[in-house]
Amino acid sequence: MFEDRFMDAGYHPEDAAEQSLRPKTLRDYIGQNAVKDSLSIYIQAALSRRDALDHILLYGPPGLGKTTLANIVAAEMGSNIRITSGPAIERPGDLLSIITNLNQGDVLFIDEIHRLSRTAEEVLYSAMEDFAVDIVTGKGPMANSIHMTVPRFTLIGATTRAGQLSAPLRDRFGILFRLEMYSPQELAKIVGRSASILNVEAAPEGILEIARRSRGTPRIANRMLKRVRDYAQVKGGGVITLDIAREAIAMQGVDELGLDKTDRTMLTTMMDKFGGGPVGLDTLAATTGEDAITIEDVYEPYLMQLGFLMRTPRGRICTPAAWQHMGRTQPGAAADGQVRMEL
Ligand SMILES: Nc1ncnc2c1ncn2[C@@H]1O[C@H](COP(=O)(O)OP(=O)(O)OP(=O)(O)O)[C@@H](O)[C@H]1O
Ligand SMILES: [Mg+2]
Repeated sequence: MFEDRFMDAGYHPEDAAEQSLRPKTLRDYIGQNAVKDSLSIYIQAALSRRDALDHILLYGPPGLGKTTLANIVAAEMGSNIRITSGPAIERPGDLLSIITNLNQGDVLFIDEIHRLSRTAEEVLYSAMEDFAVDIVTGKGPMANSIHMTVPRFTLIGATTRAGQLSAPLRDRFGILFRLEMYSPQELAKIVGRSASILNVEAAPEGILEIARRSRGTPRIANRMLKRVRDYAQVKGGGVITLDIAREAIAMQGVDELGLDKTDRTMLTTMMDKFGGGPVGLDTLAATTGEDAITIEDVYEPYLMQLGFLMRTPRGRICTPAAWQHMGRTQPGAAADGQVRMEL
């Protein structure tokens, strides 16, 4: 079910053209201002010391620009980037060979770093802290350990789940950045930029409409832009106007706020079966047929950003705004729409 989801922020094969839409410099990277401001200071400082940048952990929901940012950091440092991911590293030896082949100042990017095996993770401890690795040769009584220093490199780890990282690994990152969802205005800048790269003619209102309905996520905004462009080509003489954008997006089953069928099912399930909550995550997963991790990483961040959902120690709760958006009357809500809190 998750795989067919148009609004899923994860990477799809159709996003392959992403590369051409990726900004290459910090200046072209839109939004995330707090992150950019700090990064540019750290980069300037490291460059003037002629030293490698401290290790960086980037975390946040999928599609917000972690991979893009890692590439930009390497480019701004004028260094090479080596890209791998937690699941791709099967044995500690895989990681050892990558690390021992790095050059001074290189960036090593490990995507989905929370999925690194425990033994591979242990290789990182001394590599990150002491710029050294221990290589074991031979087996049993013949085993020998060689202590080898490695050039000073910068590890950039990316994860959607910072909470799943072990404390010893997390503590070895000098810089931690949480990427936030983008505002419609920031997304509109991204969509406008992508439209000009793709040579698509679009009215500002059409662009803003795409931005408003893309769940705060650049990857979704770029994907939506391409679908709206197709629609415009066939139905609207190629220009993305407000009406064309609205029609094309509605055709994808996405509503005015960017909620798709799964989001709406989640909210209506909570409302119709549980009176709007509190509902525990596992119950929500069981009744909607989505797995708990997907609900936590992908659906909830946007619903919370919209102010539709609250996480409480007793479970998830739909807010009055959510009831209103779904066109339902909240039990206990007075006719004036105000909710009387029971104390
Ligand atoms: N700040 C930004 N400005 C402009 N475009 C962006 C920005 N952030 C992301 N994008 C666009 O969104 C797309 C997805 O970004 P990216 O692949 O970096 O996300 P990610 O966080 O690494 O996702 P995942 O968690 O799935 O790995 C990129 O192709 C890029 O074009
Ligand atoms: Mg990525």
